[in-house]
Amino acid sequence: MAAEDPVTMDKLVSLCKRRGFVFLSSEIYGGLGSSYDYGHYGVLLKNNVKAQWWRAMLQERDDVVALDSAIIQHPATWQASGHLAGFTDPLVDCRTCKLRFRADKLEEASCGRKPSKRPGETPECDLTEARDFNLMFQTTIGPVREEGSIVYLRPETAQGIFLNFKHYLQFSRKKPPFGIAQIGKSFRNEITTGNFIFRMREFEQMEMEFFVPPPEAAQWHGHWLEQRMNWWVALGLRPDHLRLRAHGAEELSHYSSATSDIEYEFPIGFSELEGIANRGDFDLRAHAEASGQKLEYVDGASGERYVPHVIEPAAGVDRAVLAFLSDAYDEDEIEGERRTVLRLHPLLAPVKVAVLPLVRKDGQPELAGEVYRALRERVQAEYDEGGAIGRRYRRQDEIGTPWAVTIDHQSLEDRTVTLRDRDSLAQERIAIDELGEEIERRLRAPWRSPKLAG
Ligand code: GAP
Repeated sequence: MAAEDPVTMDKLVSLCKRRGFVFLSSEIYGGLGSSYDYGHYGVLLKNNVKAQWWRAMLQERDDVVALDSAIIQHPATWQASGHLAGFTDPLVDCRTCKLRFRADKLEEASCGRKPSKRPGETPECDLTEARDFNLMFQTTIGPVREEGSIVYLRPETAQGIFLNFKHYLQFSRKKPPFGIAQIGKSFRNEITTGNFIFRMREFEQMEMEFFVPPPEAAQWHGHWLEQRMNWWVALGLRPDHLRLRAHGAEELSHYSSATSDIEYEFPIGFSELEGIANRGDFDLRAHAEASGQKLEYVDGASGERYVPHVIEPAAGVDRAVLAFLSDAYDEDEIEGERRTVLRLHPLLAPVKVAVLPLVRKDGQPELAGEVYRALRERVQAEYDEGGAIGRRYRRQDEIGTPWAVTIDHQSLEDRTVTLRDRDSLAQERIAIDELGEEIERRLRAPWRSPKLAG
């Protein structure tokens, strides 16, 4: 195992393309900035991340319920939420190189001329005054672009939850403290781009709005900080690559009274993975005022009424995928040959087990096919009979498959196979009849990143 973390953003981008995790969107037309498509293994990995989030929110608790709201909502939503007025970045244009930059991120930007400089660094740079630029994408409802037909692609999934709050009080038989969780696409016309899937214009969020009696807000904020940090660690992120950072007053979003970010040490340095905000009663009050509806909780027994406060853990699915890939990427040497391996938590690995006949003859493919069909009833499995066995192992290592089953001549005699472990490289002989149980047992076992020292 390598002593130093070998991961770089370039290596991840290259592996993701080579192995079918993530592609630049519309690549045959030169690509579309900050838009990416997920390939087969990317879809499987992303689905596993989302399944683990739903599991933690819904299955392992009884105070959170689910929602899947529309992407295009009534435009009054964004007036009331403050996004029309406040969801902006300050921008400057350069009249010389014709590029646009975030005024507060000039230090990180490079200008369009060669050799590239920081905008404003040379006398030729001719920057405009900063102007506020709204990050929401607009489109129109109906065939005529007229006043009143403008709508927005949601920039966060959260507002769909607030719009449905009343329904949940009525049907879900929940009372504060309780939460509504949702996973879905969000859209932002980001100006600072680059860094692969870290910042995209179209991305997925996993958000949960937890409604609490106002005096309990601070305590629940602490609870969710702890829960969410534990979730990332349980799924294998190395604790020394995670940290909590509280926002300073000048950094808080327009709706938040306190936010702490869970930051991960990506190859670009420590950056936000998830934000956990105390939104107070900002959103429910704003929508109540704008819609004329009462958005409050009334206790049936005591008659007490109040507007709940909201604690919001908000994570990005794509950033989660990037963090898990960064944490998993490793290189080592087997019998003098370099190997690239994704040491993903088995629960997240796109494929759990590969079934490989040693040779493509002597009845081995037939027996391997039988083993594969039995295993895929239980877990995502893959069958591969093409090429040298070493190359087939390497391919599975690169997509993070934790176990490989090899069928050899002995398998035909005694119905046993070898079970190879991606990380330890241990090979155990095991009866075909016990394989399914054994793989499921290993999947349930606690897991620790082999990249952690000691
Ligand atoms: N509802 C609160 C909210 O949207 P946010 O901090 O703006 O808060 C939450 O977003 C999470 O969504 C971030 O921590 C990040 O993981 C993800 N996210 C935000 N903008 C993103 C972008 N442009 N590309 C990818 N992920 C993004």
